[in-house]
Amino acid sequence: MRVFKKPALILFLNTGFLALGLSGCSIVGDEPPRQPTPDFNPTLDVRLTAKQVTVPLFEGPLTDALTYDPEVLSGDATKVASLTDSYLGPIIRVRTGERLRVRLRNDLDEQTIIHWHGMRVPPEMDGHPRFAIEPGEEFAYEFVVRDRAATYWFHPHSHGNTATQVYRGLAGLLLVADDEEDAIGLPAGDCDLPIVIQDRLFDGSNQLVYSHTGMMMDGFLGDTILVNGQPDFQLSVATRAYRLRLLNGSNSRTYKLAWDDSSPLVAIATDGGLLERPVERDYVTLAPGERVDLWADFSKYALGTELTLRSLEFKGADFGMMMGGHGSVTGPANGTPMDIMRVRIDRQESENAAVPDTLSVASRPLVQDAVNALSPRTFSVSFLMHAMMGGQWGFDGRRFEMNGVREHEVIPFNTVEVWEIRNETSPVVMNHPIHIHGAQFQIIERSVSSTFAQGWNSINQGYVDDGWKDTFLLMPGERAKILIRFEDFTGQYLYHCHNLEHADSGMMRNLRVQ
Ligand code: C2O
Ligand code: CU
Ligand code: CU
Repeated sequence: MRVFKKPALILFLNTGFLALGLSGCSIVGDEPPRQPTPDFNPTLDVRLTAKQVTVPLFEGPLTDALTYDPEVLSGDATKVASLTDSYLGPIIRVRTGERLRVRLRNDLDEQTIIHWHGMRVPPEMDGHPRFAIEPGEEFAYEFVVRDRAATYWFHPHSHGNTATQVYRGLAGLLLVADDEEDAIGLPAGDCDLPIVIQDRLFDGSNQLVYSHTGMMMDGFLGDTILVNGQPDFQLSVATRAYRLRLLNGSNSRTYKLAWDDSSPLVAIATDGGLLERPVERDYVTLAPGERVDLWADFSKYALGTELTLRSLEFKGADFGMMMGGHGSVTGPANGTPMDIMRVRIDRQESENAAVPDTLSVASRPLVQDAVNALSPRTFSVSFLMHAMMGGQWGFDGRRFEMNGVREHEVIPFNTVEVWEIRNETSPVVMNHPIHIHGAQFQIIERSVSSTFAQGWNSINQGYVDDGWKDTFLLMPGERAKILIRFEDFTGQYLYHCHNLEHADSGMMRNLRVQ
């Protein structure tokens, strides 16, 4: 049912008119790559070369992978850190207000482009697939960091090969700091650790294997967990509090994260930064693209204690499972229990801090406006059956079009809106991590149809919907309402499924803010 009430209808007509007015200025994919602006004056100027590497992941043969090789051209070189013995990275640290220039050099043998996941950057800096550059080319990003302190990340975004490029190693972190975060004194330095979780599949000679069902219905699932690009990841910690910045950088796998001693997890931040106050969960659900920062206090453990961070079992999440068989050579289905990493408490430290009661005051400012909000703008996941090929995912019956924008995808600038996103594609239904570019939003309501309640109940207590989000999980049969406002730039952004195989096969659409 997509019934618009009166105010929404007026909006609909207005934006339709404006869309018509703009249709004369076509956006084409073959403009030359953007070059640096001489008077931009970056505080940090970095070249990232996307290229092939070989890394020592296991004993025996080296593993072929892709990486972003960083080179600091000007600014503080300590702000760009590579991870040792890993393809992953780099980690770029900036502060709100900084002027960042990144020159992406493409030394791959195919198109690529970088997207700054979660960042509010102008559309031409957002890594839309229409800006993809060819081998040998360079694209200059220049933007002022206007985002809150948070764990953002970056990855390829050219259409059709994002999944394989991320899979082979292209992903890094962009960690933003600001005064508000500094003021509360979170664990820093060696006690502020990125934990990037990815599942991979290797063959007998240590090479990455990429495969998924031909129909692209469930995406890629590996059987080996890498953390920060390394297998069998072990963390050695002291008896004190840490900030663990968790990112699910997997293509299709959702995790239900818990400690093996059943200690609760304390979340202090989500995709868009600090929560108002810490929240406790027995487990935390983390879908592809999502981040959560944990306050992990190891002071209660005796020296020598070993803990395991696990992904627990959950149900109703995977197409293969629903059809009663996986039918592909990928790893275990979504919802299969897996170990993520081990933590060993092996250093005594006498000083420690308690998690602050109040983390942020600016966390959910859109809530006030919700009361007056219009009837929701709806987006429905769709599954398009094809006789011979299975089917393909999309939104509202449409797949990705490079420049195509439908009327309900034209969004008024600087206006609070309620969106309802629905995952009701019965009989073929799967979980979809939904991601929106260009704005952080708040999740205000979730519900599930009774048919799918069992699966939902096996994972929904791990949602951390208390703060700013840019990506969230929609389980089978689930609907979510969000509050969103595009208050920074007009122009063309994207919304898509962050199951990267789904996105590559067309589960992505443009939004035009105007
Ligand atoms: Cu992390 Cu458009 O994606
Ligand atoms: Cu994004
Ligand atoms: Cu999807």
